[in-house]
Amino acid sequence: MEFTFSRIMEQVKPSEIRELLKYASQPGMISLGGGMPNPGSFAVEEIREIADYVLENYGALALQYGNTGGYDELRKQLAIFLGEMEDIKTDARNIIVTTGSQQALYSVGKILVNQGDFVITESPTYIGAISAFRACGIRMEGIPMDEQGMKTDMLQASLEKHRSQGIMPRFIYVIPNFQNPSGYTMSLERRKHIIDLSEEFDVPIVEDNPYGHVRFSGTHLPNIKTLARDNRVIYLGTFSKIMSPGLRIGFVSADESVVGKINLLKQGLELSGSTLTEFIAAEYLKRGIMKRKIPEVARMYGKKRNLMLKALEDYFPDWATWSKPEGGMFVWATLNEKINTSKMIARAIENKVTYISGASFYPEEPRYDSMRLNFTFPSDEDIPIAIQRLAAVVEKEAKAIEVSR
Ligand SMILES: Cc1ncc(COP(=O)(O)O)c(C=O)c1O
Repeated sequence: MEFTFSRIMEQVKPSEIRELLKYASQPGMISLGGGMPNPGSFAVEEIREIADYVLENYGALALQYGNTGGYDELRKQLAIFLGEMEDIKTDARNIIVTTGSQQALYSVGKILVNQGDFVITESPTYIGAISAFRACGIRMEGIPMDEQGMKTDMLQASLEKHRSQGIMPRFIYVIPNFQNPSGYTMSLERRKHIIDLSEEFDVPIVEDNPYGHVRFSGTHLPNIKTLARDNRVIYLGTFSKIMSPGLRIGFVSADESVVGKINLLKQGLELSGSTLTEFIAAEYLKRGIMKRKIPEVARMYGKKRNLMLKALEDYFPDWATWSKPEGGMFVWATLNEKINTSKMIARAIENKVTYISGASFYPEEPRYDSMRLNFTFPSDEDIPIAIQRLAAVVEKEAKAIEVSR
């Protein structure tokens, strides 16, 4: 038979990242495409030892169905972790464990937004958030960014316009630290401004912070959740970038009413998350391995970021520009508007290098002149080679359409 799918699924398109994974495994290919941690950052031995310990001591519980909200000890440890590392005063009651923060994104969309309503995001924004929100039937309005993060003066103008029309966004979604895909970090001033706007217009904030711990230069800025004067910030965290994405441990720290609704949704989605990995993550935190590993991971990625920035200086044309992230996983390189990076990707693949074209990250009308370059997954040796290969593709493309400074 031929299936008739829901109208929502007409809006959900396969992502370029999934498509590119096919090429990433070709011999000799260097991928700057995915957002994967370096396998060298995984604490394989410690996790193996913890897995043995958990199975020996808690086997009957860890292999059983668990709480929908997450293993109690993990939620307790998460509250301590958020207090110590992020200065977020929270409690196990205000935390729900999710299957990666991806599930948290889908969940906030589902519990807060009616189909057809809209939310505000940065533009560009995380491709997975676009997919999650589309799958919830949510429309998005993107607010442009610069090196200081979302332009909050434009956010203010947009909120004023919407208020005069009587239709407000259901939340404002931001990734303040080392944003995916731009690598930009929102300034302290704008963090405070967004809180003021959220209060003035009565719109909650969803703060997604997968990269905040991976800072390798500059000074730590307080999270929006830390700065907020009340319960208006729904904070999403994950262990994917600092421990392992394979364990699928994410979490939400928010008002108890929000946590309660996500819990109800989760009962329909998956009954409970993976009890075994929740036990492992709790023990990892309890033993202090997370705190020890984070600076190591940041050091490893800082070196890789430096290698990429140096290679871009050495090989890229002087009319190109790129972000200089102080943390996270990505550099955002902008070429000339005559160059379409979505089309150029075929040439890059021929030259044995991949990236994600900028167009994938726009919640509304795409721009085609940028690309996201990941520096955490490739080896130190491969980074300059990949950038040299990509620069050759860019130069050739520019010559063909006569781009100059
Ligand atoms: C901004 C952002 N949010 C959420 C996620 C989802 O991460 P996970 O589901 O692995 O926790 C990612 C992954 O790349 C991300 O970049």
